[in-house]
Amino acid sequence: MTLNDFSHYARRRVDDYLTQNLNQYQPASHLQSAMAYSLFNGGKRVRPMLTYAAASLFGKANDLTDASAAAIESIHAYSLIHDDLPAMDDDNLRRGKPTCHIQYDEATAILSGDALQTFAFELLSDSKHQNTTIQLQLIQELVHASGRHGMVTGQMIDLANVDKNIDIDELEQMHQHKTGALIRASIRMGAISTGAKSETDFAALDAYALAIGLAFQVQDDIIDITSDTTTLGKTQFSDEEANKPTYPKLLGLEGAQALAQSLHEQAITAISPFGDAAQPLVELANYIIGRNH
Ligand code: IPE
Ligand code: IPE
Ligand code: MG
Ligand code: MG
Ligand code: MG
Repeated sequence: MTLNDFSHYARRRVDDYLTQNLNQYQPASHLQSAMAYSLFNGGKRVRPMLTYAAASLFGKANDLTDASAAAIESIHAYSLIHDDLPAMDDDNLRRGKPTCHIQYDEATAILSGDALQTFAFELLSDSKHQNTTIQLQLIQELVHASGRHGMVTGQMIDLANVDKNIDIDELEQMHQHKTGALIRASIRMGAISTGAKSETDFAALDAYALAIGLAFQVQDDIIDITSDTTTLGKTQFSDEEANKPTYPKLLGLEGAQALAQSLHEQAITAISPFGDAAQPLVELANYIIGRNH
């Protein structure tokens, strides 16, 4: 499968699953409209692609793979709605469209973020899956990656360091929490959903995930400078304007690009034991480093 085919496959599966499960509660129609706006407004679906790619190493994607991919994308969508709020990055443009609080209003944006967060756990905990052992494992992975041990702490560090100079270790810690943790969970949850158990396999996947998760945010910082607003679908130079700590600021643009390259190599080396089966993960690593939006 080419990356293009794989990305269509992953997008269709996760979008179908999200659609089937979202429109089920009649009193929440306004809320669901804001949730759907932020779930279906053109995200790249990188995390679901990683989930399906990791799952495919161990078996055929199943209902818990779909639930994992959908849950992660739901957490991601919530994190972006809140990230764009006036109290956080105060951005008006996301995926080339008005951000949720501009399209709706601030209260609706806050609440739809809250609802997307719990929606993720609604999907994973559903009794229809009938595999409570794996379900609990998946829930623990996502809790760990998205809450105080992961993304929320990363966002806290990000905001606490506006107008400050931090060193390279602190910057890496921020990025690993803010973005790396959820990317690592995307990969681990895919593997868990199809029955991965061996510690050696998880160690290889974690090494890949650590490198590619950091590389993803390094590239996000780079394209804030090198891409333009139309391509990005979000406002160019928004990190500069908000005086955020970023890799290009600390290492220079070329230094940041060199770091992204070296993380890419580390990622590819880490998954080489899986051989040809890891081709989708290799292609996703290439895509993450090469992307301009
Ligand atoms: C953007 O994530 C925010 C970061 C964590 C860097 P993506 O670049 O995956 O956003 P979408 O979902 O494709 O819009
Ligand atoms: C956002 O990082 C990361 C999360 C939402 C967890 P950024 O603030 O860099 O993301 P963009 O650039 O607005 O997409
Ligand atoms: Mg931010
Ligand atoms: Mg932002
Ligand atoms: Mg950014």
